[in-house]
Amino acid sequence: MDLNRRQILCGLGGIACGAACAGLINPKEDAHAASEKMQRFQQAGGDFGWKPHKLDVEAVQKVAYEAYHNKGYACGYGVFYSIVGSLAEQYGAPYNQFPFSMLEVFKGGISDWGTICGCLGGAASAYALFWGRKERDAMVDELFHWYSTTNLPIYNPADAKVSLDKTKPTIAESQLCHISVSRWCAANGIGEKSKERSERCARLTADTAGRACEIFNAKIEKGKDWKGTYVAPESVKKCADECHKKPGSGSDWAKGHMDCKPCHDGGKALQNHYVNHP
Ligand code: HEC
Repeated sequence: MDLNRRQILCGLGGIACGAACAGLINPKEDAHAASEKMQRFQQAGGDFGWKPHKLDVEAVQKVAYEAYHNKGYACGYGVFYSIVGSLAEQYGAPYNQFPFSMLEVFKGGISDWGTICGCLGGAASAYALFWGRKERDAMVDELFHWYSTTNLPIYNPADAKVSLDKTKPTIAESQLCHISVSRWCAANGIGEKSKERSERCARLTADTAGRACEIFNAKIEKGKDWKGTYVAPESVKKCADECHKKPGSGSDWAKGHMDCKPCHDGGKALQNHYVNHP
């Protein structure tokens, strides 16, 4: 409600004033006026203190696709907004206090560095509003594994901004923006800066938001009893469990759960391209 309307209401006198007017204060001014200094590491609402509510998966996908295109805020914003923004639209505070545009940082795998796919960064961030790592890690495992093993994109809305009918989906085998995007571009002979590539990522945003929301809903329903279906890929089991992550093996140096194969299989794209470039 804008100031004029507030003044008009207040101007009506008696009934409208008092408590009613107090509630009409611009939330932005209000937040600052009410802000108190905190003790170190304290957090309003407590750590991981916000309450999650189940959401409609199809509606979330639609919001994610739209959010990707909103001001070019893209993937991380798209997935995060589709969950937390939908909560804000349906429940108001505290979700509506979140500065959503912050998630734009994930665009292009964080400021175009091609690291983590922003869709995944956005989803994991949304989970982390509600669950600490002991509970969240299994949700992240489930989503990240799904992402790297699924032929994407699947989402194909009737009102698509750009047609991808002449392109084929790809399996990223990775959580990294660089590998996910470059594989799709190479498989389709389409440039990374093209509107088709951007549309592909918009649809991945909807796909990831949908899967993220299914996991989110299941977690809310089952709580501590929720278990995912994730099992580590063969390469991780073989290389990591037996040696490169096994304490005392003498070569326990490999950080992370990413599938080892795409980077260490010596494939054509992984040869030394600084000397003898083909
Ligand atoms: C995204 C690509 C990528 C993935 C996925 C990946 N690695 Fe690596 N890994 C690298 C790169 C790049 C290096 C650095 C190589 C160097 O220093 O020359 C490296 C280094 C290593 C090293 C250090 C020794 C060496 O050869 O340099 C080990 C051991 C290793 N990785 C094992 C693994 C295992 C096991 C997995 C799966 C659990 C894995 N990596 C997943 C890219 C990857």
